Amino acid sequence: MTELLKGQVALVTGGTAGIGAAIAKQFAENGAFVAIVGTNEQRGQEVIAELKALPGCPGAQFFKANVSDPASIEAVIKSLLDEHKKLDILVNNAGITRDQLLMKMSEEDWDLVLDVNAKSCFLTCRAAIRAMLRAKKGKIINISSVVGMIGNSGQANYAASKAAMIGFTKAVAKEVAGRNIQVNCIAPGYIATAMTHVLTEEQKQSTLSHIPMGRMGTPQEVAHAALFLASSWSDYITGQVLTVDGGMVM
Ligand SMILES: NC(=O)c1ccc[n+]([C@@H]2O[C@H](COP(=O)([O-])OP(=O)(O)OC[C@H]3O[C@@H](n4cnc5c(N)ncnc54)[C@H](O)[C@@H]3O)[C@@H](O)[C@H]2O)c1
Repeated sequence: MTELLKGQVALVTGGTAGIGAAIAKQFAENGAFVAIVGTNEQRGQEVIAELKALPGCPGAQFFKANVSDPASIEAVIKSLLDEHKKLDILVNNAGITRDQLLMKMSEEDWDLVLDVNAKSCFLTCRAAIRAMLRAKKGKIINISSVVGMIGNSGQANYAASKAAMIGFTKAVAKEVAGRNIQVNCIAPGYIATAMTHVLTEEQKQSTLSHIPMGRMGTPQEVAHAALFLASSWSDYITGQVLTVDGGMVM
């Protein structure tokens, strides 16, 4: 453990499970106060108890909110800013899939995936950016996907949402670079979480065959990249997409 994030306040959306929970833990272990946003109250409270039990964790808080709901997100960020007077690190991690071939994809599933994965980034960043601009300091990390870079059959909605996050990241990175705010994406490949647990054995084998390292990644391996992008070690890096994918995209 380090004190890399000592004294910092971080918000991680979708921090109740998988990659988001691993990022929250990584940040707390390295000294940050961590707030997590999720829809599952029980899971949220469990993760908060785990975070608070970590040595070096200065505190943690759960907010029950849907990331695609503007009023809820504004209320979460206002509450954090009222309490801590700053927000140093924002991680847009909450995400869902509703896979279907294009010709069978419903408009509802298109809208839902775009709203939860992509519109949520706009909502959280818009709510947080004024405080970061004023502080002349901030790190925004958007969890995209290799699917947003190379596409994937059956995931037109998901791929579009993840590609949108990349374009959004680069635009905002340019907008706020002069105020010492860095905005980057992480594009995980095939990571062992609930999201990938539901894939069929055939889908898993097919995906594995495209990974030069021949294995799935862990949520912790994505969290290590997030810690780097959240820390001062990445102060001269902005507008980038860091793939954490065992070599899938290179
Ligand atoms: N697992 C992978 O292989 C993989 C690969 C590339 C990218 N990703 C991305 O990483 C992120 C995390 O995925 P994961 O694998 O940990 O999935 P997961 O299903 O384990 O976790 C997703 C989290 O998002 C939360 N969430 C979902 N909808 C929400 C909403 N409307 N409001 C608030 N919270 C909501 C869930 O409660 C959960 O905490 C996602 O954005 C996903 O697209 C995952």
